[in-house]
Amino acid sequence: MENKNRILVVDDNDSIRKLLQKMLEKLGYEIETASDGFEALSKLVFDIDLILLDIFMPGMDGFEVVKTIRKQAATRNIPIIMVTGLSSREDRIRAVELGANDFISKPVDMTELKARTASLLKMKKAQDDLNRHRRVLEKILERRTLALRESMQEVVKAKRQVQNAHMETIHRLVIAAEFKDTGTATHIKRMSQFSAMLATLRNLSPTEVEIILHASPMHDIGKIGTPEEILLKPGKLNKPEWNLIQQHPVIGSQILSDSSSLLLQTGELIAISHHEKWDGSGYPFGLEKEGIPLSGRICAIADVFDALTNIRPYKKAYSNEHALKIMEKAAGTHFDPQLFTLFTDNMKQVEDIQKKYGVAA
Ligand SMILES: [Fe+2]
Ligand SMILES: [Fe+2]
Repeated sequence: MENKNRILVVDDNDSIRKLLQKMLEKLGYEIETASDGFEALSKLVFDIDLILLDIFMPGMDGFEVVKTIRKQAATRNIPIIMVTGLSSREDRIRAVELGANDFISKPVDMTELKARTASLLKMKKAQDDLNRHRRVLEKILERRTLALRESMQEVVKAKRQVQNAHMETIHRLVIAAEFKDTGTATHIKRMSQFSAMLATLRNLSPTEVEIILHASPMHDIGKIGTPEEILLKPGKLNKPEWNLIQQHPVIGSQILSDSSSLLLQTGELIAISHHEKWDGSGYPFGLEKEGIPLSGRICAIADVFDALTNIRPYKKAYSNEHALKIMEKAAGTHFDPQLFTLFTDNMKQVEDIQKKYGVAA
């Protein structure tokens, strides 16, 4: 069944109201009627497509009705034709300013009524179609945005999984090297925390600190290539043995080389430079001062401090005070003096890390 347009006729004069109703029904519309402004507003719940509105009515007049209808979002777009008797030009202007769309004079002429209602209903239909279309588009946009957000979350999740797998692989490799060297994996836990602590104190960005935290455990990864009998030898090493040990930075950097991952690149840099010394007497290249990568200088302090404060095959565990005393002498020769001061100035943090990750290995 065809949906008929519904027109609300508002007039306090019974005979005019009835006449208009009859004429409009003849034109094929469904009609609601109201005899004053308040009744007119209460009839708007019936999906009204057009209003024929008398101006002068007792109580709420036509102007007030237009004003109220235009104020509310739900009714704002209903076209209104003012049905005027002897209204002045000023009244008409006022009605337009308040939001009336058209006028029709009493006595109402059928042809004129037909033309005016048809044109405004056409406009209303176009407006309704446009609104419907906009709502459909908004829904589509909403659905697409949701789908996009969901797939973005999936991508982030997948990326995190790959990253975790990546980190775990590195971690397992590092533990393999560490077990061979010290028989435990606690050294790398503590030294990486000391390294991150120093990186923070040196004002590196949180991302750089994070990278140092995860890359520093790779410093001795090259010891995978060093014979165990040398690594675990309790006594002093002879020259050939010492030469072999000194290969581990190069072996480590070779294991980690040519990676596109910033983490492995930093690991490579740390592996190759953590035995360089501030005065140029380190190995493998004899780099000096700022010529040694910052990450390598940081790890040198963290690594030596933790080695001194823990048992090794060739030595007992020293107290923090004793270890610092030994290292103090090497600040400016072995260690970056500024970094070393940062370390000794923050022994409370160092002790907290030791408590958390165990002191003696
Ligand atoms: Fe090393
Ligand atoms: Fe180490």
